[in-house]
Amino acid sequence: MIQILNMSMIYPNGKGVFDINFNVQEGEVFGFLGPNGAGKTTTIRQLLGFTNATKGKCIIDGMDTRLEAYKIQKVLGYLPGEIAFFDNMTGNEFLTFMEEMRGNNCHRKEELIEYFELETENKIRKMSKGMKQKLGLVAAFMHDPKILILDEPTSGLDPLMQRKFIDLINKEKKRNKTILMSSHIFDEVDKTCDRAAIIKEGRIVALDYIPTLKENIRKSFFVTLRSKDDIEIIEKSGLKYILIDENILEIFVEKNFDLFFKTLSKCNVESLDASEQTLEQIFIRYYGSDKI
Ligand SMILES: Nc1ncnc2c1ncn2[C@@H]1O[C@H](COP(=O)(O)OP(=O)(O)OP(=O)(O)O)[C@@H](O)[C@H]1O
Ligand SMILES: [Mg+2]
Repeated sequence: MIQILNMSMIYPNGKGVFDINFNVQEGEVFGFLGPNGAGKTTTIRQLLGFTNATKGKCIIDGMDTRLEAYKIQKVLGYLPGEIAFFDNMTGNEFLTFMEEMRGNNCHRKEELIEYFELETENKIRKMSKGMKQKLGLVAAFMHDPKILILDEPTSGLDPLMQRKFIDLINKEKKRNKTILMSSHIFDEVDKTCDRAAIIKEGRIVALDYIPTLKENIRKSFFVTLRSKDDIEIIEKSGLKYILIDENILEIFVEKNFDLFFKTLSKCNVESLDASEQTLEQIFIRYYGSDKI
């Protein structure tokens, strides 16, 4: 349903995205993860046909995004990363404007306004960040498009609204919608997406089903030893670790839990803490920038 084929978009300063390839199947929810400046918005803007790719092309619902951008708008809901709205309009006026542009078939408008508790009377320039984001979401979903492209959809939303957004995506997925969403947050991708790609410095560094991506995430444990002499046991075991203090180690465990526990049983352990897997660690893991 969405295809990106050998697409590069290189800005005059040499930054951008390089040789991006992925497809999103009909009925699939696809996550596009990466840190600030990785190239998510650049890729998404190519999909919208806003700028000319340096190389390659993008196809949505069988149509070339550069040649048939107008026709694609009819089947597509789009939430931009940076919402540059018409600041002087009220929320209501903006939605009516979008509705007219799309030919007045936005039958889900009222339902979505209620769902996201959107206040439509205020001028957009007076809206809070979260309220603007909700307005963007209502505009993206209200014509019930079969394809949705969402650039950081939960940015600025409070936890309750983030939850509601995740529920909405899962409902839309059941209705066979095709959804591509970019995010910094592994957890929301985990709760909604079938597959995800991770982008780093303009290149895709991982692309797989979510359970496979998760399997590859290693865990780490902070181990405090009663005697620093036991470090030798850890060293000899082949476990990967870094020394935090003279008797505190962070040990990285991938699939070698058995080795981990067997080795620790030979040591005099004072305490053991599992560290939370943060998105950062997941990124670091995939980006391979750690030396361990
Ligand atoms: N118009 C532009 N001219 C030159 N460089 C640009 C332009 N737009 C983006 N870039 C650069 O391209 C790279 C990718 O930016 P992009 O906005 O796609 O990142 P992103 O993944 O969306 O980041 P974020 O999470 O912050 O939204 C960055 O290095 C950025 O500085
Ligand atoms: Mg962006």
